[in-house]
Amino acid sequence: MKTHQFEVIVVGAGGAGLMAGLYASKTAKTAVISKLYPTRSHTGTAQGGIAAALGNIEKDTPEWHCYDTVKGSDYLGDQDAIEFMTSEAPGIVYELEHMGLPFDRTPEGRIAQRPFGGHTNNETGRPVRRACHAADRTGHMILQTLYQQCIKNKVNFFDEFQVVDLLMVDGKAAGVVAIELATGELHTFHAKAVIFATGGHGRIWEITSNAYALTGDGPAIVARRGIPLQDMEFFQFHPTGIYKLGILITEGVRGEGGVLINGKGERFMSNYAKTVKDLASRDVVSRAMYLEMREGRGINGQNYLYLDVRPETVNKYAALDGRTNPDGSPYTVTGEQILKKLPDIIDFCRTYLGVDPLTQPMPVQPTAHYAMGGIPTNIYGEVLLDENKTVVPGLYAAGECACVSVHGANRLGCNSLVDIVVFGKNAGLHAAEYAQGASFVDLPAAPEQPARAALETFYKGDGSEKVYDLANEMKHEMFANMGVFRIEEGMKHALAKIRELKERLKHVKVSDSGKIFNMELMNAWELQNLLELAEVTTVSALARQESRGGHAREDFPKRDDVNWLKHTLAYAKDGKVELKYKSVAITKYQPKERVY
Ligand code: FUM
Repeated sequence: MKTHQFEVIVVGAGGAGLMAGLYASKTAKTAVISKLYPTRSHTGTAQGGIAAALGNIEKDTPEWHCYDTVKGSDYLGDQDAIEFMTSEAPGIVYELEHMGLPFDRTPEGRIAQRPFGGHTNNETGRPVRRACHAADRTGHMILQTLYQQCIKNKVNFFDEFQVVDLLMVDGKAAGVVAIELATGELHTFHAKAVIFATGGHGRIWEITSNAYALTGDGPAIVARRGIPLQDMEFFQFHPTGIYKLGILITEGVRGEGGVLINGKGERFMSNYAKTVKDLASRDVVSRAMYLEMREGRGINGQNYLYLDVRPETVNKYAALDGRTNPDGSPYTVTGEQILKKLPDIIDFCRTYLGVDPLTQPMPVQPTAHYAMGGIPTNIYGEVLLDENKTVVPGLYAAGECACVSVHGANRLGCNSLVDIVVFGKNAGLHAAEYAQGASFVDLPAAPEQPARAALETFYKGDGSEKVYDLANEMKHEMFANMGVFRIEEGMKHALAKIRELKERLKHVKVSDSGKIFNMELMNAWELQNLLELAEVTTVSALARQESRGGHAREDFPKRDDVNWLKHTLAYAKDGKVELKYKSVAITKYQPKERVY
């Protein structure tokens, strides 16, 4: 067993982890630990853009961005945190630009911006160009840029180390335990401050845009240490995943003028969101798609619809909508322009579907995409223990695994990239500052022992169950009963199934006794994380008797601000889930009905 000592440990090397590592390392001895090679992190798959009210193409303001985010969150977002994020957004985008991020450009050389769902001109209600983009590879460019900056600034990396436990001493974070995947050896990382930035948990669902690595490791690890998980019932389904595969087709397609079409050839979103149509918030669009399919208006009566970005379709609907260029001329596109702006999307569809989006519509369905809930934090990234916002000393979280909460019940597109850089930076700065004033606390003898014992249980089952089968049953059940629409009976069915699967996991026996990249063992451990988060998600959802944002209940179809304008805190420890609630920070905007 090897032991290392750093003042700040960052777990995860996506955009939030790299930003945290970059900033913490300026003043504290810092290491970033990641189960992946950093540039393989899931931030690299974010496509359409990063939201910031630069106003480069048309009038826009951080206040509009703030209001749109509050409205998009269905009023569950904490308005003080949203105000902070949206006012920081322009500065941090310019910071990325100065680091070398190759944004697309306007003819005048400014950062190019495109419309995205729920981002509006607050005077007209019409879509505003707020998403700053690098073609449809914006996340990839952020990840590469930040990694280069980290290398330049000599941040210490432990690549392909899977963190499996958080060390806490007297209620303070004191380090982590990780497996070096190449050797199977356990390492103890003694630290003054620990930042979790481990990303999401979309692999709970059958159809998902999330990579295999997104197994909710950070939230599951901290929950085992008695820390609550906030608002886990809110999980976003992105409207446009490739049919059956779930691979993301960026909302940027609709930003560039693409439209959703049903089996009758109708552009149905005008029936659900009169002003912004296909660019309504994701919860609204995904529900509309389900309703269309349920009423038999899927393509050929099947469970998919078309996303059409063929130039003739874009030009037809742009003319009908009265969409114009910044100089007031009618908005039109050519195939060449679409290819330049959306090269990866075109390539994915040609490769995976044999469909050419320049001449054919793309078959799409909603895909499990993003966790609005996670480890509760304040804007400094400090993890919060309870409804009184008690800070856990030395423990921080940022990015998708955290819940600040800037996304509330539904995240707007492009707000995840701004979230990871704004709050990743803040967590890094504040963890380093904390570390400067703190001492290393003594670790218990053999601190890796609980993690070793937990992993060894996977060799002790009778072998009557297989991880792969259990994972498939979980994904299928959660997609069927904990998806876009929910109802008590279905959620109870899902909860019973998840609890059954947790029991059956005890029968799994890992057959690979090797030490080198033992992914069979890792997959079993990751499934345990997913099952624990699926249980928390379902228990939290069953309790919330209303519909809000990404949580749409058929038995409680209305939002209920009298009883449910509050955050859920779920404590999941020792096999039980206990729920508490916390107030929502409302500053400028009183809840009202959302109309798009
Ligand atoms: O549609 C997209 O490009 C996804 C962006 C996001 O989730 O923010």
